[in-house]
Amino acid sequence: MSSIDQAGTHLLGDSTVRRLGYGAMQLAGPGVFGLPKDPDAARAVLREAIALGVNHIDTSDFYGPHITNQLIREALHPYPDDLVIVTKIGARRDAQGGWLRADSADELRQAVHDNLRNLGLESLDVVNLRSMLDVHGPAEGSLEEQVTVLAQLRQEGLIRHVGLSNVTMTQVEQARRIVPVACVQNMYNLAHRGDDELIDTLARDGIPYVPFFPLGGFTRLQSDALSSVAANLDATPMQVAIAWLLQRSPNVLLIPGTSSVTHLRENLKAADLALPKDALTLLDGIGQQGASAH
Ligand SMILES: NC(=O)c1ccc[n+]([C@@H]2O[C@H](COP(=O)([O-])OP(=O)(O)OC[C@H]3O[C@@H](n4cnc5c(N)ncnc54)[C@H](OP(=O)(O)O)[C@@H]3O)[C@@H](O)[C@H]2O)c1
Repeated sequence: MSSIDQAGTHLLGDSTVRRLGYGAMQLAGPGVFGLPKDPDAARAVLREAIALGVNHIDTSDFYGPHITNQLIREALHPYPDDLVIVTKIGARRDAQGGWLRADSADELRQAVHDNLRNLGLESLDVVNLRSMLDVHGPAEGSLEEQVTVLAQLRQEGLIRHVGLSNVTMTQVEQARRIVPVACVQNMYNLAHRGDDELIDTLARDGIPYVPFFPLGGFTRLQSDALSSVAANLDATPMQVAIAWLLQRSPNVLLIPGTSSVTHLRENLKAADLALPKDALTLLDGIGQQGASAH
């Protein structure tokens, strides 16, 4: 059995994906803006992910903007039959790389067409509505109009499944009254566990929860407990952070991001890592202290 298979699989929309996937945001230039320094190296990461068994890639046209999707198309099109590409809409970039809300009906529709063109697809597997009510984290407020637009695009066949990102439990419930929700993507990791209740609720209904910043995002996870567990298991802290998320709940699907083939291989090997009880106790303590890891 190859390494990545140890992590198991889960339904995402109507496809079965391996629980260890790949997040493509790091492939754009610095600040997720513009071209990467070495586009060939970026395409090599994507090809290696597929070669190692990844069949779930997370992306967006606002990475670059457009750059990440174009790299995915250049590296992987025509796509393997089992590959599920999840994109997100609801934001746009300004000329300085700032992140702006872009979720009017026209903007959402345009974003779907941009993603189709840049990815070279006739319909998108999964499209997450990325709430921009607050760019930094979930904020209450109605997303009914935006979700209704996505539901219409789904009926038109441009989208196969609708997901949500940066949302609250109330918004998930509201959306589920409009359209089946294929997945929820929020920030969550060893040190930031605000979504524990949401994860368990979604698990009961078989809906995938896809944590973004699984390794801490722009500020990598660091804590003495994480380092000591990793050293004891002869693993790296990033592998332990991934293994902890994999054991957190069967509906958690991972999309760790990297621009490096070496890091990619290291991260996917986390599928082999079993965390013993004493390690879990130490790691669970990180989330309870909160501030000891960033
Ligand atoms: N919905 C949203 O609002 C939202 C927001 C952010 C991200 N996302 C999605 O979530 C995915 C994952 O998040 P992310 O990429 O921002 O953060 P992440 O996966 O938590 O961490 C990525 C960072 O960790 C580094 N890294 C990766 N593997 C490593 C390793 N083995 N050792 C040391 N450093 C390592 C990467 O640097 P190197 O490139 O040097 O490896 C990069 O700086 C993104 O790619 C994107 O698809 C969604």
